[in-house]
Amino acid sequence: MEQRILVIGSLNMDMVVNVEQMPLRGETIMGKSLAYVPGGKGANQACAAGKLGKNVAMLGCIGDDANGSILRDSLSAAGVDVSPLVVCPGVPTGLAVITVDSTGGNSIIVIAGANGQCGPEVIRAHEQLIADHDIIVLQLEIPMEAVMEAVRLAKAHGKTVVLNPAPAPDSLPDELLRSVDYFTPNETELAKLSGMSTDTVEQAEEAAGMLIREKGVGAVLATMGSAGALLVTKEGAQLIPTKKVQAVDTTAAGDTFHGGFVTGLAEGRSLMDAIRMGNTAATISVTRKGAQTSIPTREEVDALL
Ligand code: RIB
Repeated sequence: MEQRILVIGSLNMDMVVNVEQMPLRGETIMGKSLAYVPGGKGANQACAAGKLGKNVAMLGCIGDDANGSILRDSLSAAGVDVSPLVVCPGVPTGLAVITVDSTGGNSIIVIAGANGQCGPEVIRAHEQLIADHDIIVLQLEIPMEAVMEAVRLAKAHGKTVVLNPAPAPDSLPDELLRSVDYFTPNETELAKLSGMSTDTVEQAEEAAGMLIREKGVGAVLATMGSAGALLVTKEGAQLIPTKKVQAVDTTAAGDTFHGGFVTGLAEGRSLMDAIRMGNTAATISVTRKGAQTSIPTREEVDALL
């Protein structure tokens, strides 16, 4: 039977400014356009899993405001069960200020808002929800104590834990790392969290191997930009390449990859096939603007697969 996915994490309204080139420190430049787009790492991953598999719920906090309603509606339209979302009166919904340049690269500043209210007590109040799902997907845009509590409860109930360590802090507690089944950093996050260089695939393999051997991480699935995804397990390493495309906007490419990967896992596909689904969904997403607006449908992904 198909497994059920629960994403626990952030929801942000993205304020996206398109520019030719990123401004230098102290420089004033003219922007090309401004758009408001539903985002947030947690919400984007849930949206991708919703569009690709329709078997996902999202737990997170939004404000009692227009942005909160827009984010809830966007997830609902993608097929996500939004009934666990918690509305926090008097607190604004999370916001991200994103600058995208003409190469599709971005820089992002997140103002937590209601995401900061998603503490361990919210997680404990939803223990049954965790128990009712099979794959628990987390990122790091909600308080760390909440992530720790969610992972503790998930493991106590025998669930599969996928942790996308973004945004990456300087280090993560060992207790957290040894409870993670799939640890999914990008190459920069892997370098920061391992304290090792990840400039080449071989170096990334070393860094991931160290996290498995010395920290007890189950498996590392590192996104390596246009090179694809690097899977490192106790048995060995494999790079799963992705198709080369002209990027318009890379925002939420990693999130889309996650949505595709966990959808594949939930459907009982092989690890390789689940990763291919993530890669393909992410490849399509970088050819489109915005976060949730760039996530493809299942039909689009299947056609390219
Ligand atoms: O990963 C992309 C996301 O990061 C954006 O949607 C933004 O909200 C931040 O959370």
